[in-house]
Amino acid sequence: MKPLILGIESSCDDTSASVLRGNKILSNIVANQEIHRLYGGVVPELASRSHQQNIVPVVSQALAQANIQKKEIDAIAFTRGPGLLGSLLVGTSFAKSMSMALGIPLIEVNHMQAHILAHFIEDANDSPPEFPFICLTVSGGHTQLVKVNGYFEMEVLGETLDDAAGEAFDKLGKLLGLDYPAGPIIDQYAKQGNPNAFEFPLPKLEGLQFSFSGIKTSVLYFIQKQEQMNKDFIQENIYDLCASIQKTIIEALLVKVKQCVNQTGIPRIAIAGGVSANSELRNKLQELAKENNYQVFIPKFEYTTDNAAMIAMVGSLKFQQNQFTDLETYATSRLKL
Ligand code: KG4
Ligand code: ZN
Repeated sequence: MKPLILGIESSCDDTSASVLRGNKILSNIVANQEIHRLYGGVVPELASRSHQQNIVPVVSQALAQANIQKKEIDAIAFTRGPGLLGSLLVGTSFAKSMSMALGIPLIEVNHMQAHILAHFIEDANDSPPEFPFICLTVSGGHTQLVKVNGYFEMEVLGETLDDAAGEAFDKLGKLLGLDYPAGPIIDQYAKQGNPNAFEFPLPKLEGLQFSFSGIKTSVLYFIQKQEQMNKDFIQENIYDLCASIQKTIIEALLVKVKQCVNQTGIPRIAIAGGVSANSELRNKLQELAKENNYQVFIPKFEYTTDNAAMIAMVGSLKFQQNQFTDLETYATSRLKL
């Protein structure tokens, strides 16, 4: 019988618990924290408090929906890092206590590894990518090009020098007066706009590094200038602005993906992380794949943004390799891949 794993995720502002049998999901509950909308971004102190309130009901709901009893679980997997320390502490302490109370093994999981290994969840995509493959991981905190040689053999080939792609979406959205997180709103608004209405310069960087601060500055100056002539500029052009900004961010990402394939000779591309939910990024990646004969792996929406199913997936893989951790483990906000 394949192992029954309870996964717990609390690295940022989503409290999530999931039960997996092998790589098959029995439940995946995510409680989003609406409170941060009021502040235009995640407030760490409030995030930890909400995790404290949510974790017991979220775990109970995950067990109930999977229709299993606590005593049936074979191991508990939790996010050790990277993330907000106060948030990670809640999930880590909860997982440790539960493993001690039930007398079952504990498995620590790297959140970034989990975003990538979400591709191995049974229904994540038509078929999982073959090793080696390249993963573009784009989230609120990270933008990385990773060469994935095996489940636990990953090499970061390129990263952002400043903001992450999701952060760029969120900060630019804030400039446009949109709610946090602005990524999904820009995605929706962009569908009604012209991506060529406004042109913003792409970053010019050597190698496989990314940078989004230049785009942010150029949009800011452009808007300030336009608003001097027309104070309603944003409202009157919101859809075109969203479409043009989105196009620029996607181009900045895909130019590096293409360069990465040329450099490594690996034509298999997976995407992961919250920004990989973006519909236009998905379309453009498919187009790039068609033009260049790449194979692309695009996971289902629910496995792109933060969720505990991806944590349980890594738990399941580690369980099969006896990669357990002891109760001395601790949350680490800057955990490397
Ligand atoms: O992976 P994730 O849920 O959390 C982190 O680990 O950071 O990613 C959250 C990020 C946010 O910046 C959010 O704006 C972005 O993913 N995001 C999107 C979309 N959905 C979520 N960005 C662009 N288009 C979307 N559809
Ligand atoms: Zn994440």
